[in-house]
Amino acid sequence: MKNNSVTIGIIGFGTVGAGTAKILLRKRAELESKLGFPLVLKNIADLDTKRDRGIKLPSGVLINDAKAMLNDPSIDIVVELMGGIHPAKEFILQAIKNGKHVVTANKALLATEGHEIFKAARKSKVDIGFEASVAGSIPIIKVVRESLIGNNIQSIYGIINGTSNYILTKMTDEGIDFGTALKEAQALGYAEADPTFDIEGIDSAHKLTILSSLSFGIPLSFTKIYTEGIMKITPLDIQFASEFGYKIKLLAIAKQADSHIEVRVHPTMLPKDHLIANVNGVFNAIYIEGDAIGSQLYYGKGAGEMPTGSAVVSDIADIARGIKTGLSCRTHGITMTENPELKIKKIDDIRTCYYLRFSALDKPGVLSKISGILGSRDISIKSMIQKGRKVEKAVPVVMMTHEARENDMARALKEINRLSLVSEKTIYLRVEGGEN
Ligand code: HSE
Repeated sequence: MKNNSVTIGIIGFGTVGAGTAKILLRKRAELESKLGFPLVLKNIADLDTKRDRGIKLPSGVLINDAKAMLNDPSIDIVVELMGGIHPAKEFILQAIKNGKHVVTANKALLATEGHEIFKAARKSKVDIGFEASVAGSIPIIKVVRESLIGNNIQSIYGIINGTSNYILTKMTDEGIDFGTALKEAQALGYAEADPTFDIEGIDSAHKLTILSSLSFGIPLSFTKIYTEGIMKITPLDIQFASEFGYKIKLLAIAKQADSHIEVRVHPTMLPKDHLIANVNGVFNAIYIEGDAIGSQLYYGKGAGEMPTGSAVVSDIADIARGIKTGLSCRTHGITMTENPELKIKKIDDIRTCYYLRFSALDKPGVLSKISGILGSRDISIKSMIQKGRKVEKAVPVVMMTHEARENDMARALKEINRLSLVSEKTIYLRVEGGEN
């Protein structure tokens, strides 16, 4: 080992661990020539030391004891790629305590326990790199924290979960239902055997927690993010959305509105010609509006062995450069000073346009009843479609509204759903990228 090298230990030899190891080992010479010093992968710790990950490690690199690595004084950077909260958190805190810099892809851990980790890192004066925690290969953390530092970010929103985007794309292109599309995603290895975090919007909310804190200086606020998944989306709503000129996407949205920040994850209707509406399959994309830049779009692979490995290696290289130049401690917090003035807006208080699908009996007076209730709550209808004519049976009546307050909409729908002429709970979706 050359004495000018930076030495790395990885905890977790799963998909991202294997991708990171492949880049570090196979591109050792190129990385050394770009950096001017070698990156040495000393150990990878994983309980499973037998499974083939498609890479042959030099003898002695793979070990089954992470603690030995944490206590090894020769290791400069510990890379946590095991996922989950425990014992990942304890391993990271131990690494920090022992003066090691940390790289992690663990969005769930940072979103829920990040304060403690960043506080410990500040105290020990070590770096935390977390580029791979949001949107895989897209260097969005670096962009927001470094490249756009001269901007006041007005909004940052996008598709940051590839699994749910794959499912919605399949449903849109092939007219299949949610369950069938989910099974296909699982068969192709996109969705986990337990895909709850992906389809319920929780994975997106973890990532949005990190992005919104970086963008607006608010504390990590995972529990305050309104989160809704894609399980209730039907081919019928996708079809109606299309007739109105929209596509349905699971969006993670953070934007400044008045003196508040809106942070929310939910299925959203976007005009078909919006750039984000055309992001399909497992791809991720993030749209940013800033006062100096106007708008920018970032697009790429949000998951997978090599794309996520690429993001991990970027953090390793950044931190290694810092170690060599003495300019470390650049990445040791989400933001240096949190902005206590900016409060997260309650979902009840947001204003947006809505898509509404009523299941109503096709009888005289039904529409005037429904529109009367909407009108009494200050909700104005923009356009409407009614399909089919079934005497004595419910037909879908679909409306797009102008901007309205969420709480007014919730109250109006409660009243409408109680009408005897309305046979099922009304479906509603929020709309972005239009008049609001
Ligand atoms: N499960 C995530 C997704 C990938 O589907 O995008 C890792 O963040």
